[in-house]
Amino acid sequence: MKLGVVLMFVLSMGITGVANAAGEIIIKFSHVVAPDTPKGQAAERFKQLAEKLTHNRIKVEIYPNSQLYKDREEIEALQSGAVQMLAPSMAKFGPMGAREFEIFDMPFLFPNQDALHRVMDGDVGKKLFAKLDTKGITGLAFWDNGFKQMSSNKPMHSVADLKGLKMRIQSSKVLSAQMKALGVNPQVMAFSEVYTALQQGVVDGTENPVSNFYTQKMNEVQKHMTMSNHGYLGYAVIVNKTFWEGLPADIRSALTTAMKESTAFERDIAQKDNDDALANVIAAKTTTVYTLTPAERAEWQKTLLPLQKEFESVIGTDLIQSANAIAAQISREQAAKTLPKNK
Ligand code: LMR
Repeated sequence: MKLGVVLMFVLSMGITGVANAAGEIIIKFSHVVAPDTPKGQAAERFKQLAEKLTHNRIKVEIYPNSQLYKDREEIEALQSGAVQMLAPSMAKFGPMGAREFEIFDMPFLFPNQDALHRVMDGDVGKKLFAKLDTKGITGLAFWDNGFKQMSSNKPMHSVADLKGLKMRIQSSKVLSAQMKALGVNPQVMAFSEVYTALQQGVVDGTENPVSNFYTQKMNEVQKHMTMSNHGYLGYAVIVNKTFWEGLPADIRSALTTAMKESTAFERDIAQKDNDDALANVIAAKTTTVYTLTPAERAEWQKTLLPLQKEFESVIGTDLIQSANAIAAQISREQAAKTLPKNK
């Protein structure tokens, strides 16, 4: 390609875009989990679609497993334009001043994935992305991981069993409050440091969906896992706004299609990935897996319910009410399905 054409590409990219010698626009997509997780696989699917639909005018470079940046650093790198795309978990937006994202960390607020999708894909999701816009970030999609399970080196059935444990959490005030309500001492730590911290006993336990737990080999260093499904972990796929808006319109449109398709793919595989990871954890026989009884789960739920009131002023009463209204709507729909039909 002629030098002038390359130069045009570079200039059209604004301050944060990078074109290589072949004139391809580079998207560096950094993330912190393993390639064989729901997020890792969907990033790969996005790369394939983005390159195909733009006829290779876009090249997506994926950097998994915190290869480039850890949790907090990757958000700073996106804002400065050192990388163009990320998919941080919703628990990691608080430190940049977008605490509303912590609605997704609220324990027992979402009864199932359907409720989560209705919240993300509705007004709440729109409000969250509008908030990011003021921070030089454009939100493209919400991706799932799944419901979190609690792990440690001791069995955890009743709330009292958790008392005094030290647990790693993501950088979310809701998660910190959740752990404190359970009598746990929370320690914020980057994802890439969790395995070693568990191995060395810096922390006793952690919470994550099973796909993250298994792909980081945490089962090697955690004797017990409780299927508590107490909270959710999902992602916001984000791009640097200057980069995004500086893209030629036809490329942006192709990338939007690629994102839509990879989002459908991601949401489709997430639950199965977690189910497969659970089967692998059980087969490895290093971790005893326990499922809370309904009575135990009700006790955890009762202990954590007051967090909704406590965080209304931070997250927004309207957002929490919308999520609760959607949850109520879903349980009405479920009840209607199970009711015998009137003749
Ligand atoms: C964690 O830090 O536990 C997760 O957010 C990692 C991830 O991105 O799934």
